[in-house]
Amino acid sequence: MPADASASVPARPRRLAVLVSGSGSNLQAVLDRIASDPGFGGEVVVVGADRPDAYGLIRAEQAGVPTVVQPLGEHPDRAAWEEALRADLLTYDPEVIVLAGFMRVLSGPFVTTWSGRVINTHPSLLPAFRGAHAVREALEFGVKVTGSTVHLVDDQVDHGPIIAQQPVVVHPDDTEDSLHERIKAVEHEMFPACISLLCQDRLEVRDRTVVIHPHPDHPPLDHPQEETS
Ligand code: GRF
Repeated sequence: MPADASASVPARPRRLAVLVSGSGSNLQAVLDRIASDPGFGGEVVVVGADRPDAYGLIRAEQAGVPTVVQPLGEHPDRAAWEEALRADLLTYDPEVIVLAGFMRVLSGPFVTTWSGRVINTHPSLLPAFRGAHAVREALEFGVKVTGSTVHLVDDQVDHGPIIAQQPVVVHPDDTEDSLHERIKAVEHEMFPACISLLCQDRLEVRDRTVVIHPHPDHPPLDHPQEETS
């Protein structure tokens, strides 16, 4: 994380490991954004999953990205599973861990390995509706607006500092699937954008608040750089 806004964007792309459990549409959005944006700042070096039938693995293979799979049930306990996954990922030397619909909680040693560099997308406006059934629970609660949150991961579930949020209006006839599809459409734009900011070292955490620094080569028009002479 940069100490100030003058930090330059890294010349070399950050190495990303993306973890999936399901369809991997967010993985696809990240792969597509990287392919179309030379300034993205990262490359996907491995995709990991906790289940061999995750469609995200097929997306990775189609993109020519190596995959690792560690099902929880193949290990004596969660700690052993997590350590096996961590060891697999470390062989690819990732700098950023992207949780793209990864439906397992990752605890202390794992998150600490990449402290401040684990990023997650969650289908609600946190801190509302944490956990694995956020869309269903928002519908059941009768909210009129829910949305999407991208945040850095800490040692609590769906809790770390928030990078970005966007609302999604709930329609009267929404099902869990229809609402989740509209949330995913938002995620597919916002999540890659936030990952790019992390790769570019443009996020600074102050207490819980994430400050987004301008791109050093593209300062915002309403904050022109001061003249230095
Ligand atoms: C996303 O909505 C994400 O927020 C949640 O799981 C979903 C994954 O979707 N954690 P996909 O596998 O990326 O299509």
